[in-house]
Amino acid sequence: MSSTYRIAVIPGDGIGAEVAPEGLRVLDRLAETSGGRLAFSYEFFPWGCQYWLETGLMMDADGLDRLRGFDAIYFGAVGWPGVPDHISLWGLRLAICQGFDQYACIRPVRLLPGVPSPLRNATAETVDWIVVRENSEGEYAGVGGRNLAGRGPGSEVAIQTALFTETGCERIIRYAFDLAMTRPRRKVTSVTKSNAQQYGMTLWDEVFARVATEYPQVSTEQWLVDAMAARFVLRPESLDVVVASNLFGDILSDLGSAIGGSLGIAASANLDPQRRNPSMFEPVHGSAPDIAGQGIANPVAAIWTVALLLEHLGLPQEAARVMAAIEATTGAGILTPDLGGTASTTDVGEAIAARL
Ligand code: NAI
Ligand code: MG
Repeated sequence: MSSTYRIAVIPGDGIGAEVAPEGLRVLDRLAETSGGRLAFSYEFFPWGCQYWLETGLMMDADGLDRLRGFDAIYFGAVGWPGVPDHISLWGLRLAICQGFDQYACIRPVRLLPGVPSPLRNATAETVDWIVVRENSEGEYAGVGGRNLAGRGPGSEVAIQTALFTETGCERIIRYAFDLAMTRPRRKVTSVTKSNAQQYGMTLWDEVFARVATEYPQVSTEQWLVDAMAARFVLRPESLDVVVASNLFGDILSDLGSAIGGSLGIAASANLDPQRRNPSMFEPVHGSAPDIAGQGIANPVAAIWTVALLLEHLGLPQEAARVMAAIEATTGAGILTPDLGGTASTTDVGEAIAARL
């Protein structure tokens, strides 16, 4: 029996458009080697900063409706000099994440063979965690405003409010516990800053403590984010599933990917765990204007992201094959310059596809 999965592809800006084809190459190779069991069909959407410059829109007004019917969305990156970052991010990536209530953002970090970590003592055993980032509210709820410009230059006022709802906290915390149940260490660490942010984050803490009682098999910790930043560096082996608010999860996942060797290997999934809407899969990194157009962007993040997409589609064996092909490639020393190698984006993509 053959299954065709329909994937909406939004390559976006900068290196997003360079690494996304490498992810699709891997999907195509999986299909080719599946003996007719698997197929992927793609529809490409030209949304991004160039589109905005031409049309004034980051994505079409009916964008969400057009994406709704797909099995998954595969996303490159968005953002380009000349377009304000808050316009590009809110107009496309956040519009999709929030529009589809993809409330769980999942960001795994593992040390790959042949990829040196900047941490002296890091090994594949000590660096292996998943950041579970709340992806629908918190500090990125978009609540606030700017006003009082009439007071004159230098006196404008801006308010940016974080939104924490009991439902929002509970569903992401529950997701983290369910995920921890599938992992050998079975540990969830909650990260807040509730000493300083005494309303939203204490609500989060209380919900965490309550949900934890339903998972007696999982060990738990509650940490403040500043201390957690240090712990990522000093005691990475003590981390398993780390659940954090939208902003803290965003920052900690970049820190985590740097510990794993480079932003160029960090994968991410924006999930609607209830599957009411398509989920969106993207590398953690942005459009990297500083290296765009040179053919040297690391495609591993985009390809690892494909493994997350396959897991979500219920294809765990294919996901494992992709991870094994990534590991065989990095282990053979085929690396882009961000990891100290000389391979191009396509060299790495082809090497991974060839190992499938
Ligand atoms: P960035 O992630 O694009 O780049 C940060 C640094 O990491 C740069 O020096 C870049 O060269 C390097 N890097 C990133 N990905 C790499 C890869 N695959 N291979 C090799 N090196 C890599 O973050 P930055 O510079 O802060 O943002 C650039 C633009 O991207 C901005 O417009 C920002 O708003 C946007 N952005 C978009 C995101 C998204 O679409 N999900 C996420 C983060 C930033
Ligand atoms: Mg980020």
